[in-house]
Amino acid sequence: MFDLVIHNGHIITASDVLPPSVYIGVKNGVIQTMTTEILQGKKVIDAQGALITPGGIDSHVHLDQDNAPTGDNFESGSRSAVAGGNTTILPFAIQPKGEYDFQKVVDDYHKRASVGSYCDYGFHLIVSDPTTESLQQLSQMIAKEGITSIKVYTTYPRYKLNDSQLLELLLETRKLEMTTMIHAENSDVIDFINGKLQEKKMTGTYYHSVSRPLEAEDEASYRVISLAKVIDVPILIVHMSSETALSHVESAQRNLVPIYAETCPQYLFLTSDYLKQGCCHHKGHGEDPFEGAKYVCSPPLRQSQSELDGVWRSIQNGTVTVFSSDHAPSQYDNPKGKKLGLVDGLPHYKQIPNGLPGIETRLPLLFCYGVETGRITPQKFVELCSTNPAKIYGLSDRKGTIGIGYDADFTIWYPKGEMKEFILDNEMLHHDIDYSPFEGMKFTNWPRYTILRGQVAWDRDNGGVVNKLGDGNYLKRGPSTLAGPMKEINPILA
Ligand code: URP
Ligand code: ZN
Ligand code: ZN
Repeated sequence: MFDLVIHNGHIITASDVLPPSVYIGVKNGVIQTMTTEILQGKKVIDAQGALITPGGIDSHVHLDQDNAPTGDNFESGSRSAVAGGNTTILPFAIQPKGEYDFQKVVDDYHKRASVGSYCDYGFHLIVSDPTTESLQQLSQMIAKEGITSIKVYTTYPRYKLNDSQLLELLLETRKLEMTTMIHAENSDVIDFINGKLQEKKMTGTYYHSVSRPLEAEDEASYRVISLAKVIDVPILIVHMSSETALSHVESAQRNLVPIYAETCPQYLFLTSDYLKQGCCHHKGHGEDPFEGAKYVCSPPLRQSQSELDGVWRSIQNGTVTVFSSDHAPSQYDNPKGKKLGLVDGLPHYKQIPNGLPGIETRLPLLFCYGVETGRITPQKFVELCSTNPAKIYGLSDRKGTIGIGYDADFTIWYPKGEMKEFILDNEMLHHDIDYSPFEGMKFTNWPRYTILRGQVAWDRDNGGVVNKLGDGNYLKRGPSTLAGPMKEINPILA
């Protein structure tokens, strides 16, 4: 007798689509068997011919950060995550400049997460002030905390590193086999344009996108790839927004250089028109001149549909490695949220907190507009949303696929055409944010069940979020299994 049996669905992995005759037997939170023999379970779920994908891993989310006091915390963020088909999330623990004790930084985030989480979670460490002394603590982060990935920035005054700092850091992460995530935008270009826009008093929401042009991302992406090549270390460039920048990743990959790319739903579905007033189908859009603030994120939304098509192509041709949400929300109608950018009634794009909500809509968007339209295969969906995030962030011994011995983390969808399609309204979502940038879009499918280590966490037709806050565990992670073993280091650098 199994704790849970799931049957009559197409089991999807990054490589295969199994027939509905395969039964999954779960015991103690782990997949014990997959067989065509009929299994008995204390709980049995009939997937009714739908797709069964591994639980989503959202490997780029921002929760309970000081710079976004009206954003989601671990409770609301993880609740929204499971309602959108995720079983694992990877938020950030941020080193403030001048704080050299990484253990203190991480302890602080453990405290923030102590409210509990509905899904499993781990931390990436954001390194904003890499001294020789602080970098020496990275090995302790791996050994004690299982933190095997860091994020660094080439922009934002409070976080950004210069090229020599990046090189020193990459050398260290190479030695430690950590995954380095890089936010790549040229900050001098951005500062220069910001200066020009301020002089001309061009401060409306749309100018946010003008201030961070394609070229800033293009140059910084090419540059960080070059720095990674100098050190001969894999890197992942996060939230890539344009085919131009992605073309550098593609060309590196073609030359067998292990450069990885992440993109996010906003770069597939939204153009910078949304930063203007009255552009679109969204509920109420057009009445409020400041509403463009809802779409302020960095890199910014790009200008044209052809740019969005380019990002789709980069998904289809294999350049994009992981698809995450970059859930980095702030409430809109809150003086400490997006409305910080409304100063004496006038919009000031530079004061608007950066980032969009999207933890709950990431998987349904790619499923509806990618898988159900035939733009990508279900296997590609799984690779981008679960398998590759598990591999690159050191979870592939437990998570990211459906196989014997793996955690019993699943997303079960509706059979195609069987869910009543709907237009998204923010009220349907489970975050603590007063809008979604994807409101007004049509959804033809949604996770019907999210199952975390054999327990139903989300049952869309019977109760919604049905597991308990605190059911999610902290995950200690290992090294990336995406790149092959490291070669000998160039002796000059050793
Ligand atoms: O606009 C964004 N993406 N804000 C979140 C911080 C980051 O750079 O990921
Ligand atoms: Zn970033
Ligand atoms: Zn981010």
